[in-house]
Amino acid sequence: MARYDVIVIGSGPGGYVCAIRCAQLGLKTAVVEGRETLGGTCLNVGCIPSKALLHATHMLHEAEHNFAEMGLKGKSPSVDWKQMLAYKEKTIGQNTSGIEFLFKKNKIDWLKGWGSIPAPGKVTVGDETHEAKNIVIASGSEATSLPGVEIDEKVVVTSTGALELGKVPKTMVVIGAGVIGLELGSVYARLGSQVTVVEYLDHVTPGMDAEVSRTFQKLLKKQGLEFILSAAVQKVEATKTKAKVTYAPRDGGDAVVIDADTVLVATGRKPYTDGLNLDTLGVEITERGQIKTDARYATNVPGIYAIGDCIAGPMLAHKAEDEGMACAEGLAGQSPHVNYGVIPGVIYTHPEVANVGETEETLKAAGRAYKTGKFSFMGNGRAKANFAADGFVKILADQTTDRILGAHIIGPMAGDLIHEICVAMEFGAAAEDVARTCHAHPTYSEAVREAALACGDGPIHS
Ligand code: NAI
Repeated sequence: MARYDVIVIGSGPGGYVCAIRCAQLGLKTAVVEGRETLGGTCLNVGCIPSKALLHATHMLHEAEHNFAEMGLKGKSPSVDWKQMLAYKEKTIGQNTSGIEFLFKKNKIDWLKGWGSIPAPGKVTVGDETHEAKNIVIASGSEATSLPGVEIDEKVVVTSTGALELGKVPKTMVVIGAGVIGLELGSVYARLGSQVTVVEYLDHVTPGMDAEVSRTFQKLLKKQGLEFILSAAVQKVEATKTKAKVTYAPRDGGDAVVIDADTVLVATGRKPYTDGLNLDTLGVEITERGQIKTDARYATNVPGIYAIGDCIAGPMLAHKAEDEGMACAEGLAGQSPHVNYGVIPGVIYTHPEVANVGETEETLKAAGRAYKTGKFSFMGNGRAKANFAADGFVKILADQTTDRILGAHIIGPMAGDLIHEICVAMEFGAAAEDVARTCHAHPTYSEAVREAALACGDGPIHS
């Protein structure tokens, strides 16, 4: 049995990135993973498969709505659901086998099975116990449900079941207008399902800039999604083929029942730490079930670290990756740092939605003086040519210093455009720095520059 410098439990974006960085820094590393393939939730049943379905259904939407006007005539494509799922599976396979290749390349051992920590310095996988100087828990998260709602992953599904439905449902109720509900809701709306989203709050996408949230809801409504806001789902009764969803309007009034072929429960996720033996070890856990860590990702038990969805902070793959790298670098004696003020968030619908840093709401609440530079994609030539002129870029900058405090984009490729602002923020840039940077024409990125110009003397194309 090998003695390792580091054993990482979990091979999602947090765990596998941590392991690769550990190996690159000369640490003898193993990863424990019980799934058949590496990559965790993100690669197997999350980010990657959902993006395959979002891409395929966006192509369908383009064919149905914009091809004819571009002079692309002929029969619109019909949906072969089995083939679409096969394409999704192939995409997953390419990515998970890519991680396996990287493990071999970096001489990382894959300990196959579910891990447990009998004592600090020891990890049990099946009948074997392995020794490690340090253990990194990267066990991720799992979907939560609501009282009165039983998940069967056939009719009442989480995101996992929604990625492999037997057929495209005629009607779908989505509980929760968060990231998962809106991404998968828009996939099925494009495939022809009648999608109704029931949300407890009076707006979609909690925590997002309010103006973006309103615009986003309006655009999704135009795509056929129905919204019932300020409504608390009380129960879901399901048979083998159908379900009844009961919700109560929050402002009072009678409960309402809606029928659906499929119910997607997308009301959040919680840390997954089952079977790790954390209670016996005395690892401190918050009341929200998150493992408590310090700035170096150390738990209160020496030699045990934790990163990603099972600790505090947004449940995002890229946040977990950054923590994985920083944790590895710390174990190798370096002094890493993750800047939690500059972690972008992206919703991969069409249009995409992306944000980083402060919102107008957080700035107002903090009493900070700020200015807003906004530019609509209607003024962007490339967006108009590509039928992608819905949305805008909004940059928030300090009223006095012009330093960029946050940015919010709804529009084409928003998830890529946001990174220009992330880099600017990491360098402490002013909006004027972005405004004075030459941007290629014609690109969507020009809209970011115009929003930066709008923080100063004004944009050119509006
Ligand atoms: P979420 O926390 O984003 O949204 C859940 C929504 O459900 C909230 O709006 C909440 O008000 C609503 N809700 C809760 N109880 C309800 C009830 N009884 N009736 C009606 N509505 C109710 O959670 P979501 O979408 O499940 O995502 C989970 C996690 O996964 C999030 O942390 C998200 O950031 C992450 N994720 C990120 C993705 C991305 O970055 N593109 C993609 C998918 C997931």
